[in-house]
Order: sequence, then C-alpha cells, then structure tokens
Amino acid sequence: MTAPTIQWVDGSVHLIDQTLLPHTEEILEITSPAEMVNAIERLAIRGAPAIGVAGAYGVALAAVSVGIDTTEFEEAVDSLRNARPTAVNLARMVDRTAALRANGPERILEEAHAIREEELQASVAMGDLGADLILDLVGDRPIRAMTICNTGALATVERGTALSVIQTLHERDRLQEALPLETRPLLQGSRLTTWELQKMDAPFRLLVDSAGPFLLARGDVDVVLTGADRVAANGDTANKIGTFSIALGAAHAGVPFIVVAPESTVDANTATGSEIEIEDRGPSEVVGFGGTLTAPSGTPAINPAFDVTPVDLITALVTDGRVIRYDRGEGPQVPA
Ligand code: MRU
Repeated sequence: MTAPTIQWVDGSVHLIDQTLLPHTEEILEITSPAEMVNAIERLAIRGAPAIGVAGAYGVALAAVSVGIDTTEFEEAVDSLRNARPTAVNLARMVDRTAALRANGPERILEEAHAIREEELQASVAMGDLGADLILDLVGDRPIRAMTICNTGALATVERGTALSVIQTLHERDRLQEALPLETRPLLQGSRLTTWELQKMDAPFRLLVDSAGPFLLARGDVDVVLTGADRVAANGDTANKIGTFSIALGAAHAGVPFIVVAPESTVDANTATGSEIEIEDRGPSEVVGFGGTLTAPSGTPAINPAFDVTPVDLITALVTDGRVIRYDRGEGPQVPA
C-alpha cells in the first residue's frame, strides 16, 4: 500500500519524495516552512493541487514553529508563496491559510486539512465528469487516451485530475490504453505516471514526447487529457512544457483536447495566458539527468517548465463542478 502523497502526522508533514520515484519510495518528514519551500522548489512534491496543499501545511508549520505575531511568520509565508510561480494553487492556498493568522495556529491547521479534503473530493468529481464527457464525445467504446506530465494522486492528494479521468475510464472498463508522454526534462510521465498506471493495473504504453503529434496524426489516439497549473479567465491554460505541441497536434488531427483541473486552479485574476508567469528552471535540467551530463559541459540551454495553450485549441475544461465546452462557444470560464 503506497503512502498518501501528503499528510499531517503529529506536528509534521509527511510527503512521498517524488524525486526518488519510481525505484525508491521514501517518506520525507517536513518540520519547518523552510524545509517545505525546499521540497516544493526541488519538486519532491509537485503538481498544482499538491503544492497548494503543501503551501497550506507550510503556513501551519510556520504558525506552530515561529508564532503568528512574528516577522519570521511573514517571511515564511512570503517564501512559501513564491516557491514556484506558475501554479495558482500555491499562492492561493498560502494566502487562504495565512489570512486566518489572527485566529491562531489551530485554525490555520484546520483550514489546511480542509483544503486537502477539498482537493481529494475534487479528484473524484473530475474523474466522473471527465469520463462522462469523453464517452459522450468519442462514443461508448474503448478509449485510447494520451496524457502528459503527471496528473495523478502524486500531483493532488488522491486519484488526480486528468489521470483521475483515465482511472475512472479504466474502472468503467472503457480504457483501451493510456498513452503517457515521457515529459522531458524531468520525466514526470515516465517516472511517475507509469508508476501510478501500474499500481492501478491500467493498460498503457509510454511514448517519447516527440512521438505525440505523429500518433495523433496517424489516428492512434481518441482523446488528449491534460491537467493545468493555471486556467486564465479566458480559458488559456498553462501546463507542463509540451502541452501546447500536443494541443496543436490534436487540433490538426481533429482529436478532442480536454483540460481537467479543479476550480482551485481556475484564476479569475489572470485575464489571459499572456499574463501567466512561466517558471524558468535554468539550464542544468536540460543538459543532464540524474547527475550525468547529456550535452557538452558549458552548453547553454533554455528551460521553461510550462507553456500556455490558447483556449481556441481546447475542446473543453472539466473542473470538479462543471464542464465548459469551449468548442461550443461556452463561457465565461470564471463565475462573476
Ligand atoms: O512541474 P510539475 O511537475 O509540478 O508540473 C505539473 C504539471 O504540469 C501538471 O500537469 C499540473 O500541475 C496539473 S496536475 C494535477
């Protein structure tokens, strides 16, 4: 039985260290906000909803360890909020818990638990809504579903976003196969999504990223399912680098491209995708992997961790509460 992605245990936060997967399953025990910032920055915990929960627990750790009336508390909140810029969940959940400062550490912790529970419930709802939509769009037949990055329990709390839909299709006996992309440079697809698909006993075959558009063009894919790090008010969507290329390939092939994300990832304060800050993780992840250089020493590189898919390439957004059919001109995407 795999440990939960993230949970509060007796005054500390236990995380599965995702940098060690798939071969080593180790729990990190986080006891301070600084350790939480470090875990988020180095992707020991990652995925938009999961880092939202981590940020909330980080604020609870700060409240307990440095007290709520200190400048250290404010500094801790600030560094948690800014540990990664693209996924709106992190800043949103840090702000939500820090806003309860006047009510004391217990109340902050209670809110962090509530956020974790909300994300868990959201994953179940997205799985059902997404599977219904796909069977409606594609027809009630075995589905070949392409996906990118990792959007499973590891990226949320349980089940996930896009991978929750794939799991639900599998549970309904409607999944022919999942087609996860490797997801260079950190290989969340090959390290994490395959690990989760194996655990759910789902059929799948792994692809190199560059094979995605070709398989779409060849007619080997029925639907593309992706998560999101931030959905702008107009529907433009930031997600793992490579998502935009797959959206272009899907549009070319006439294959539905579905974004699956909880309401906590939908950002009314960001008007369009051009306003989303894209994290740049520096050259080292591009020129090497696991401590081995894969390019000549000193090679310069560009490493945007995310890209933005414009709404006109997206068929629909599935959240935990609604399905928005962009292909039918539905909107607005964010409630007034
Ligand atoms: O850099 P990562 O691994 O945190 O990127 C994660 C993604 O891009 C996911 O697709 C996104 O957070 C949605 S996951 C529920």
